[in-house]
Amino acid sequence: MSLNGKVAIVTGSSRGIGAATARLLGQNGAKVTVNYTKDREAGARTLGEIEKAGGTAILVQADVTDYDQVKAMVEKTERDLGAVDILVNNANMSFPIMPFVKFPWEGFEQKLLHEMKASFYCCQAVVNGMIERGQGCIVNISSGLSRVPGPGFIAHTSAKSALDAFSKALALELGPYGIRVNVVAPGLTVTDATANQPEEMKAAIASRTPLRRLGQPEDIAGAVLFYCTDWSRFVTGTYMPVCGGTQMI
Ligand SMILES: NC(=O)c1ccc[n+]([C@@H]2O[C@H](COP(=O)([O-])OP(=O)(O)OC[C@H]3O[C@@H](n4cnc5c(N)ncnc54)[C@H](OP(=O)(O)O)[C@@H]3O)[C@@H](O)[C@H]2O)c1
Repeated sequence: MSLNGKVAIVTGSSRGIGAATARLLGQNGAKVTVNYTKDREAGARTLGEIEKAGGTAILVQADVTDYDQVKAMVEKTERDLGAVDILVNNANMSFPIMPFVKFPWEGFEQKLLHEMKASFYCCQAVVNGMIERGQGCIVNISSGLSRVPGPGFIAHTSAKSALDAFSKALALELGPYGIRVNVVAPGLTVTDATANQPEEMKAAIASRTPLRRLGQPEDIAGAVLFYCTDWSRFVTGTYMPVCGGTQMI
């Protein structure tokens, strides 16, 4: 069940989970838009890796919290690669980590707005085409923290919970058009976003994880690939924790 001929946009795919996902979709035959906002060098690296493995990709700079830039990214993808079959909303919206009693409203508002703008804009920019063609696949990258909160992560938990609910509502509305919408919820995964988190905390999480390690970007990419292929053709509106068993549902 390869993705031969399919066109995919993976937001925030210059680094981390997005880069691993873009590489894996590329290896499985999808033509991929690698998206970045600031780090062109990292984006070019991901693009080069896909091409070196025999895949097809383009590199597009777009801030996914800006609708005009999202629209331009989708138009460029359609021009250069073809109609969009797969959208992975992955771009990482940064957020403050601190106790609620000290939390600035501005930081909370920004995380909620950016998380939802990014997914709302990207989904809206591709769904009309998917509806016309009667098929499409959307994967939203949430977090295990959307269901099991951690101290200091109130903005992330709230924003990702909103994303989970949004994904279920989309799955309901878009199912009749043959469009599937699912959520992948990573546990702590080794990327630039988690590089500064204390080593003792990471060791403690790894030691209480049934599979006894932290996630790697490729672990998360595997779950996204499953949702993008026909193996999951009757699966929509679901939430898959990818965390070595720390979160069991
Ligand atoms: N790592 C974890 O432990 C973990 C756990 C749970 C959930 N997640 C989720 O997994 C996803 C990926 O996280 P990650 O750890 O792989 O992040 P990361 O390593 O920090 O990479 C972030 C990526 O997002 C891009 N990005 C940031 N803001 C953007 C914007 N406004 N428009 C377009 N692209 C933007 C970055 O582009 P530039 O290179 O141009 O900056 C980069 O490609 C996020 O949704 C995150 O919440 C991660």
